[in-house]
Amino acid sequence: MSAIDIVTVTLNPAVDQTLQVPGLQLGQVNNALSLRFDAGGKGVNVASVLADLGHACAATGLLGEDNAYIFENQFAARGIADHFIRMPGATRINVKLNDPQTGNTTDINMTAEEPAAAALQLLRAEIAALSAGPARVFVLAGSLPPGVPADYYATLTRDLKVAGKTVVVDTSGAPFAAALAGAPDLVKPNRHELETWLGRALPDRASVIEGARALRAAGPANVIVSMGEEGAFLLTDQGCWHARPPKVNVVSTVGAGDSMVAGWISATLQALAPDQALRLATASAAARVSSPEGALHRAGLAQLAAGVQVEVIEI
Ligand SMILES: Nc1ncnc2c1ncn2[C@@H]1O[C@H](COP(=O)(O)OP(=O)(O)OP(=O)(O)O)[C@@H](O)[C@H]1O
Ligand SMILES: [Mg+2]
Repeated sequence: MSAIDIVTVTLNPAVDQTLQVPGLQLGQVNNALSLRFDAGGKGVNVASVLADLGHACAATGLLGEDNAYIFENQFAARGIADHFIRMPGATRINVKLNDPQTGNTTDINMTAEEPAAAALQLLRAEIAALSAGPARVFVLAGSLPPGVPADYYATLTRDLKVAGKTVVVDTSGAPFAAALAGAPDLVKPNRHELETWLGRALPDRASVIEGARALRAAGPANVIVSMGEEGAFLLTDQGCWHARPPKVNVVSTVGAGDSMVAGWISATLQALAPDQALRLATASAAARVSSPEGALHRAGLAQLAAGVQVEVIEI
């Protein structure tokens, strides 16, 4: 494997356990058609897409050793360098009960246990070691487990910026608000996350653009506000753009935002202009929503990118 270009950090991963249960009835005995386990977590998703796009990735964070094999299998299949710290016990499991007769999915999510101080120290040391290496981009993604201070990403962002790294932060709530002052290179809230940060609704296009400007003024160099099927805005020091997704058959929107982040990073590593970065990010998201399982194909991505409509927004 070539030298690592990107490191993703996931403190609060989860195993997605999906059971297909036709005609699911709560409170009854049900028969399942199938059971599958998938490695979940935003940084893991971002690393998977980047690996599919041909980038050398390392993934770090915190994993419970009892079910770490689910992640290890995925890292091996994708060629992702495994730098996760192992902790006693199991990584939390999010159960998805899918009824193929109705198409409904019932989610039952677990809260992680508080990580031990020693595990957090090992993680900081691992990230410091990785930042002393050739990796150019660090991705801090997802929620923080209980007991981890809300300024965790903010402190990490500052340290990584001092080390000359490009830093992407994709999270929500208090860790998101705190991270902004560390001046990450990219944040990618969805519209709801931006509304939460601002404390007001963003009912139309003009208000979303205004909200993105307020967010950029708080520290990040680049802001993408994603809006599901309505596409996304990108705001940089060079201007503002809106991208409309290509027409695709939407199978599942899980991980759409993570795939968008991965596309922007891939474009940045290729030194593409901002509008082309937004185009690739949108194509990468479209590839994920139309084909949620398995590897993302680079040939298909070029075709999707050609179908993205990018418009310059005068501000
Ligand atoms: N239904 C859809 N149709 C077409 N494109 C979509 C759809 N949903 C999402 N996308 C694409 O994915 C991008 C990111 O989606 P979204 O705004 O839902 O991110 P998110 O809420 O951060 O997702 P995540 O759950 O991964 O965090 C959108 O800007 C769009 O390009
Ligand atoms: Mg998101």
